[in-house]
Amino acid sequence: MKQTFGKSLLIVSAYSALSVLIGQPTLAADSGKGHDLYKAYCTQCHGMEADGYGVNAPYMAVQPKDHTEAKEMNARTDEDLFKAIKFGGKAVNKSVLMPPWENNLSDDEISELVVYLRTLTAP
Ligand code: HEC
Repeated sequence: MKQTFGKSLLIVSAYSALSVLIGQPTLAADSGKGHDLYKAYCTQCHGMEADGYGVNAPYMAVQPKDHTEAKEMNARTDEDLFKAIKFGGKAVNKSVLMPPWENNLSDDEISELVVYLRTLTAP
């Protein structure tokens, strides 16, 4: 009994080590996790289509960014986007209405969101 438990634990940790190793290329190809996070945390402002028309948008003094707007989004570095998500709009000289997510999302999750945002404006 005890041995079986140990064995499955080993399999689980081997799997997580593997997903860390192959995580980046897999995500670049399929932004599934970033998309799920976006749907959970971002669409209420940025919209289901990521075009800035979330349910909160009509009531906001500063409009949520249209993440499908290629020219502007492609002018941002990955670091800019990461910083905006982690520390909020204020960290990149934008509105405080873009909240900081550092207490809710891990750095890995934020990176996955950046990967997802990039898929929206990929040529
Ligand atoms: C409460 C509403 C709200 C939520 C929720 C929200 N945002 Fe925002 N976001 C904004 C607003 C408003 C702006 C525009 C700020 C500005 O232009 O000054 C913005 C801007 C941004 C920017 C900067 C875009 C640029 O112009 O460089 C990024 C990146 C971003 N949001 C990503 C996200 C992600 C990812 C999530 C989910 C984890 C999220 N936002 C959730 C309101 C929100």
